[in-house]
Parts: sequence; structure tokens; C-alpha cells
Amino acid sequence: MRLLHLSDLHFETLPERLYVGVSSTLNRSWRELRVLDPDLVLVSGDLTSYGAWDQGQLRGVKRWLDSMDASYVALPGNHDLGASVDRGFKFPVIEYYESVEWSRTNFARVFEQQPVVSKLVGGVEVIAVALRDRDPDGALDQLEAVLSGSEGPALVAGHYPISPVRECGVLANFGSEGFIGSALERLRSLVLGSERVAAYLCGHVHAASVLPLSDRVLQFSAGALGPGPSCGWLIDFSDDRLSWDLVAGSGPQTFWSGEQLDGADPADYHLGPSSTWRGSISFVRRPRRSRLGT
Ligand SMILES: [Fe+2]
Ligand SMILES: [Fe+2]
Repeated sequence: MRLLHLSDLHFETLPERLYVGVSSTLNRSWRELRVLDPDLVLVSGDLTSYGAWDQGQLRGVKRWLDSMDASYVALPGNHDLGASVDRGFKFPVIEYYESVEWSRTNFARVFEQQPVVSKLVGGVEVIAVALRDRDPDGALDQLEAVLSGSEGPALVAGHYPISPVRECGVLANFGSEGFIGSALERLRSLVLGSERVAAYLCGHVHAASVLPLSDRVLQFSAGALGPGPSCGWLIDFSDDRLSWDLVAGSGPQTFWSGEQLDGADPADYHLGPSSTWRGSISFVRRPRRSRLGT
């Protein structure tokens, strides 16, 4: 099973206001990435820059995703489904918080999906989770039910990283804090507590990273295909082996400014050390106990 993990498109309808040229960047990037021929494209949020405030943005990005002519699963980020009342107060347009039930949010109306969606591809279940602060939509109950409801390897995807992706600079403190609050710890325990999960795929931080969450589960953050760094992960999963490659889009390869990096090299900061760009792990599931106890 071959999955292309992309994130943070930050698509805008014309005329673009925040990231001028983002639409042509995305079109160019997809023309280059489609040759990878993935079985599934997973887009881990921030599909738009202000879709929670303007439903037309979400309709626009859905048209763009549908036009890719590829099977995909998309979940919302804080710009598509406001994360918290506090964030919405601070950023009333780009992180507008919709104080309504799930089915009445712009994202649910446009994408017509539940907070948790799953897709079985080549024997691997890919599970996408939409989270808001305090989890008013019951996404984590749904995730728990999906994980315990069947067997076989699974990849879980959400917008926010479970663990910080960098030790210094802006990303040492920018991740889930202030966005999904206490829901983070339950997400962590569900992802790490399930013997099925091989990896957690996220976005939000506009940096590529791969790091172990435990001795069995890896966390991948894709870059931000629209504003940069324009890259993603190509993940191949066969039997009990998961391998990955960093793949580049055609947009900018950095996002955070030099002053925010604590002196780190901008390329290293956004893409991580080259030793992490490709790798593989054996994903060995613990043997299941016989129901007869033998
Ligand atoms: Fe983003
Ligand atoms: Fe985000």
C-alpha cells in the first residue's frame, strides 16, 4: 500500500489574499507528485487559510482535491475548523471558531463526513480524526471504536502533532498546546495504546519531521505544500514493513523566519536532517492471545 501524505495546502480562491500564487503552486506540485501513483493521498488539515469563516474556501479546495483524479482522505485543520474559542477570539477570521455542532460546521457541510473517517487500503486502515478543543464532536470516542472494531495495521492521521517536532526555535512550543487542550493526552493514549497503529500522520507545524512516539509508533509531520516547506511523505506499507521517503513539491522550502529558528540552519529546520528523509522500520504486532487461553 502506497500512501502520499500531504498537509497544509492553505488553498485560497481567487483573488488570493494571504499566499498569493498558492493555487498555481499547488497545481504545479500535484503535476509533479502524481507520477508517484499513490493508492491514497492523505491531507492532514489546513486545506484552506480561512475555510471556517468562509465556506466558499472549503468548496474551492474540495473542487481542487476532486480534480486530482486520485483517491484521497482529507481532514480539517485549525483554519478549516476553528480549534478553540480562545484561538477564534485571537484570530477571528483565519481561525474562526464555529460554536455549533459538528454537522453544522462548514467543514462537515462541504465534505459531508463524520469527525472520524476510515478507509481500508491494501489491508491497512487509514483513520483520519478531526479534533477541536475539549472534543465536542466525540471524535476520540469514535477513534477508540474504530481502532477496537477491527484488526490489522492502521495509520492514524490528525492535524496536530502529538509530540513537538523540533527541540529549539518556534516549533519547540508550537504544536497542539492552545489548540486541542486536554484532548491531546487522550489522543496520545489511544494512538500509543493500540497494537494496530504503526504511525501517526500530522501537519500544522509547516515542517517535515519523523520521530518515534514509542518503540513501535512513528510520528510524521508533512510540510505545507502551499506556503512551504513544499514537501510530503511517500509511505509504503507492505506486510510488516513501513518505509518512507521525503518528496518535494514545487513551492518554497521554508516558512518560518530566521529570527524564529534560534540560530538553526533554515533548511535543516524545515526539512530535518537528511538522514531522516528516507528510512524503514519493521512493524511487528504483538501476538494475539488465543481466546481459549492456550
Ligand atoms: Fe497550516
Ligand atoms: Fe494548522
